[in-house]
Formats: sequence, C-alpha cells, structure tokens
Amino acid sequence: MRKAIIAGNWKMNKTPAQAAELIEGLIPLCKGANCDVVICPPFVDLCKAVKMTDGTNIHVGAQNVHWAQSGAFTGEVSADMLTSIGVEYVIIGHSERRQYFGETDETVNLRAKAAIAAGLIPIICVGESLAQRESGETDALVTMQINKGLDGIAAADVKKLVIAYEPIWAIGTGKTATDEQANETIGVIRGAVEKLYGHDVSDAVRIQYGGSMKPSNVKGLMAQNEIDGGLIGGASLKAEDFAQLVNYDK
Ligand code: PGA
Repeated sequence: MRKAIIAGNWKMNKTPAQAAELIEGLIPLCKGANCDVVICPPFVDLCKAVKMTDGTNIHVGAQNVHWAQSGAFTGEVSADMLTSIGVEYVIIGHSERRQYFGETDETVNLRAKAAIAAGLIPIICVGESLAQRESGETDALVTMQINKGLDGIAAADVKKLVIAYEPIWAIGTGKTATDEQANETIGVIRGAVEKLYGHDVSDAVRIQYGGSMKPSNVKGLMAQNEIDGGLIGGASLKAEDFAQLVNYDK
C-alpha cells in the first residue's frame, strides 16, 4: 500500500512573518494526519519553516533546485544548500516553471538527478494544457514527460520519488479534473513508469493529483485507486483548508 502524500505549493506567497503565522496554525491542525504532510514555501521562508516544524509531522520542501553543485548561476539554489538547512523535498518542473521560465523535460531531468544525488525527494510535475487535452494528446504527452524526466534515474530512486499529475487547465482556475479523468491519466503515468522500470517500481511510486484540489473535492479524488495524494496551490495558503485536505480520510 502506498502512503498518501499531500504537499502544499505556496508558490510566490508569504513573507517569513506570514509563513510563521501559517505554520503556527498548521502544526496543531495537521498533527493527526495519516498521510505524509509537506509544505513548500518560497526559498526565503525555508530556514524558518524547517526550524518551526522540527519535531512535528510537517516536512519541508523547496519549489525548485539547480543541477550544478555551485557556480555562476545567478538566482539559482543548489541541492546541497537545501539539504544543509534541513529541506527534504523539492518540486521540480512545475508547469509555471515550464511556461514562464523555460523549464524543459531535459532540465527537469537534470534537476531531479541532482536532487536525488543530494538526498532530496523530488516531486516531479507533469501535465497537459487544455489544447493538448482537447486534441487527444494527453496520454502521449505525459508519457513523454515521464520518459524524459526519469531518464537515467535508477529504479530504486524512482520508487522513492513523487510524481504530480497537474493538468495545466485545472491549476488555479477552479476547474478540477473529474475524479475519473485524474485517475485515468495517473493510470497512464503509472503505466509509463511500469514500462520503464517494471511493476515493482510502478506499484511503489506515489503519484499525486494537482489542480484546484480543495476541501470540497479532496475525498472524491483521494478515493480513486491511482491517486496517492495532492499537490495543492491556493488551498495550501490557509491553515484550515490545508488541514482539511491532509485530514481527508476523517
Ligand atoms: P492550485 O495549484 O491548487 O492553486 O490549482 C496547484 C499547483 O499549481 O500545484
């Protein structure tokens, strides 16, 4: 049985003071969660987030990582920098990174490898645009994103990482994929992993759904057999909402 994992992607929200306030609210509310709970604040909040969540069931992730160990890469942060302050997870290849910052499947792959080498758990994002869904390209696209994103990553590492299926048309739009749509495409993604690594690995890898997941739709999505959790944007910014998500099974 795969353990569910619910992660909050705060995106470019919350100053350190605001982050502290949110985390203070989250700690008691998330305490009894049966799933793995992760929050991914902006870089400037990470130190504070790690310190505040020490000894709690809340884990901390970053929203991006560079593949080089150090050097002349203005504006980037290395995997060792993240692990050195106690960060455990990192989101890689979010559609906003792909859309606005030129992220490609190749750079996703480089970032994922660097994250794994440093001991971070990558949350690798894949997903199609509305035009791609409407023209029937979804399955081929997510399969290609998986093939390229996981290229050269060892089976043992794939078992431990997390994949997030996020249809771009459902992100921040209030439109959610139906439970069945999300389940079906996650099944396709799991099938792509199986083709590359075999059943043992595809059965172990955790695949989240992301895109307007909220308290009102979490139960239906999490009841699907392929869906192992959520990557949550908007609803991760309010303690009460995020707490309802991580406690979806109560
Ligand atoms: P949303 O964002 O929950 O606000 O749709 C999800 C994401 O982009 O990870």
